[in-house]
Amino acid sequence: MAVDIQSPWRIGSVEIPSRVVLAPMAGVSVQAFRRQGRRFGAGLVCSEMVSCAGLSHGNERTLGYLRLSREETPLAVQIFGSEPDVMVEAARMVEDAGADIVDINFGCPVRKVTKTGAGATLLEDPERAVRIVSAVASAVSVPVTVKMRRGLANGSRAALAVGPQLVEAGAASLTLHPRSAKQMYTGTADHSLTAELVELVDVPVVASGDVTTRERGQELLDGTGCAAVMVGRAAQGNPWAVGEIAGTRAGDPKREEVVAELVLFMRATVHELGEHRATGFLKKFYGWYLGRGRFPKPFKQELVQLATLAEVEDRLLAAAPGAAEVLARLEGELPADEDVLLDLPISAYGGG
Ligand SMILES: Cc1cc2nc3c(=O)[nH]c(=O)nc-3n(C[C@H](O)[C@H](O)[C@H](O)COP(=O)(O)O)c2cc1C
Repeated sequence: MAVDIQSPWRIGSVEIPSRVVLAPMAGVSVQAFRRQGRRFGAGLVCSEMVSCAGLSHGNERTLGYLRLSREETPLAVQIFGSEPDVMVEAARMVEDAGADIVDINFGCPVRKVTKTGAGATLLEDPERAVRIVSAVASAVSVPVTVKMRRGLANGSRAALAVGPQLVEAGAASLTLHPRSAKQMYTGTADHSLTAELVELVDVPVVASGDVTTRERGQELLDGTGCAAVMVGRAAQGNPWAVGEIAGTRAGDPKREEVVAELVLFMRATVHELGEHRATGFLKKFYGWYLGRGRFPKPFKQELVQLATLAEVEDRLLAAAPGAAEVLARLEGELPADEDVLLDLPISAYGGG
């Protein structure tokens, strides 16, 4: 029987209201992005990968990743590292911060991470990978999950060998992005591996890679037996894609909706990162929101040249009559931004 994309499922004790998961994306998955994803129908959202070493050293900027909000629950916070003891300490901090799930990154292909023995490298070091999952799973009471690539080399099947061992070690769910680390984002995700993994383990498997439409999401749910699909790049500057895949809305957004969501996102990001960091961080989002044929190309060029976010807001609102009303309605409906669960020793996060 076809799985209803809007039906709930569980990871351990955590109930997840839909079969759509918002992908962890470094440099993208800030709290504002995650809250927006939940609002558009993602059942589970995930933080970008957070360095265990940074958390355990009390690095102020890393601790900032633990500013979580009630509006984003259920939320997984993803950690990366290679030393079981350090990862245990970091996982405990993540749990204390209020995350519903601790996710471990065994997929990052970026050299800066793999050269430390973390990320995708651990797929080729199953003994250490098992020690990490086992140590973390016994240290926290929230479910521990793992996100993997297929392996390091093209054609690798390492994820299928290590996946069942990770479940035995305590992983409550596995997410598979079936590209090799070498592939980075080229080629296509081979979800026949996802179907194989589903057969091998008795925990929910999440399929990540190239889910851009409702049709593709449903095809993967039906064809691989996965419990949920993860949406990454398709959601960049495009919460409407999340809504379409999750079945909460249909059709292209109107210009005023695009501008209202972008301005809302900008304001939430300033609140989160501080004006200085948000100004640089937001630049890539202009192209993502305003592209896809929504606005003429030179408009984005114009925005990235402006010195202040206030000028960007003014320009955006002037370009889409009606956006100010949509924005006011959205802001009226949404809870106030400040809803930080944890009182961490963050003195100057934002602006740095
Ligand atoms: C900019 C960017 C940053 C990413 N950062 C992370 C990360 O921090 N942790 C992780 O597990 N995966 C990360 N990924 C991988 C995505 O979560 C996802 O598995 C991948 O993009 C494939 O899905 P997609 O085709 O829906 O984008 C990142 C991907 C992108 C494009």
